[in-house]
Amino acid sequence: MKPQLALALDVKNSKEAFDILNQIEGERLIIKIGYQLFIKEGSAFVKKVKDMGFRIFLDLKLHDIPNTVYNGVKSAVEIGADYLTIHTLGGKEMMEKAVEAKRGSDMKLLGVTILTSHSEDYLKYLGTRYSLDQLALKLAKTAVSLGIDGIVSSPFEVRKLKEEIEIDFISVTPGIRFSKTDDDQKRAATPEFAVKEGADILVIGRPIIKAENKKELIKEIYKILQNA
Ligand code: C5P
Repeated sequence: MKPQLALALDVKNSKEAFDILNQIEGERLIIKIGYQLFIKEGSAFVKKVKDMGFRIFLDLKLHDIPNTVYNGVKSAVEIGADYLTIHTLGGKEMMEKAVEAKRGSDMKLLGVTILTSHSEDYLKYLGTRYSLDQLALKLAKTAVSLGIDGIVSSPFEVRKLKEEIEIDFISVTPGIRFSKTDDDQKRAATPEFAVKEGADILVIGRPIIKAENKKELIKEIYKILQNA
């Protein structure tokens, strides 16, 4: 798979969203839509973005009883999502039902393991003997073995995941920056680094959203991805 770019469209409402989308129309892009926008603007918004020619990445991180997740995944397929995130901590049966629900569609399920906001305290909270890395790897391995198509991780974890997981999977990495910044991405990697480590989809938000010329920056990123 050639590396792809997903724009994290982390804005407040559809007006702000279309201000950005209109500037980048025609670019080959995946648009990542999270809670903030989806809860407010819903499936009608998703349809409009899809009709503009973008692929849709619904970042809803589903985690519930298997039957509820099954129905949620079915709805995501119906509204035209191309990618949907679920929590691998939701368990085997939940993931099996999610995989069953998207069967026959082209939608890809992406598994989230341990959120980067968690620290060792979270392990105590869970009462597990695993380290954060061990637990993330175990969850990712299990998810892929059950038919989850991809895993979301930091660029710094991709190589290990790709080495340790024998089945091919899509590696999705947020935490990308072009240079050292003072925002909240503490351990950011460059696009070149992420691709060299094996990332397939790079999620980039604020650097593109804040750029004066967004289209130009997207073209530059694609050049980097092609040459990495
Ligand atoms: O603006 P920025 O490039 O930091 O956006 C990154 C996107 O990826 C955000 O939507 C953020 O919620 C998401 N993300 C992240 N780190 C993770 C998982 C998801 O930054 N570990």
